[in-house]
Amino acid sequence: LGEATLHTNLNGPWYAARGQWADVADGKQGKSPGDAFYLSTASGADFTLDGDVRLVDGVAAALTFRATKDASQHYTVNVDASANVVKLWRPGRDIATVPLQVERGRNYHFTVQTAGSNIKVSLDGKQVIDAVDTEHKSGQFGMNVYNGTALVQNVSVR
Ligand code: FRU
Repeated sequence: LGEATLHTNLNGPWYAARGQWADVADGKQGKSPGDAFYLSTASGADFTLDGDVRLVDGVAAALTFRATKDASQHYTVNVDASANVVKLWRPGRDIATVPLQVERGRNYHFTVQTAGSNIKVSLDGKQVIDAVDTEHKSGQFGMNVYNGTALVQNVSVR
């Protein structure tokens, strides 16, 4: 706890696919004016993905999954403090948006469970999204920041 490293059971290696990412106390921190991604080379199709995201400042902090190597395609689930929503999106489609008063500087625990085209998202242990999308069947795990600074910790897949 408190070490300047990302705790994860994904062997990676991890790499920045856009944006600036740094090891800081309590995890991996990304900063970007637009969308930026930090990805593990580890990939999966059907899984349960857990992670803690914190929006330090700016608009959105997120977990990413089923991504391509360059992060041009992916699913991402975020907390967005500008729209005040939890959002599941992919390039070209906002799959689900659920109202949430998003607080900066607070940890949100995401659990993402995928089974084929079904994607379920829980926030702090409560299911908030149950969606269907057929676009991306498998891909890499990672994280995202949009127009701000995001901190991500404890990324695990089972
Ligand atoms: C997709 C999007 C992404 C950004 C997110 C922020 O709807 O515009 O580009 O990461 O919204 O909520």
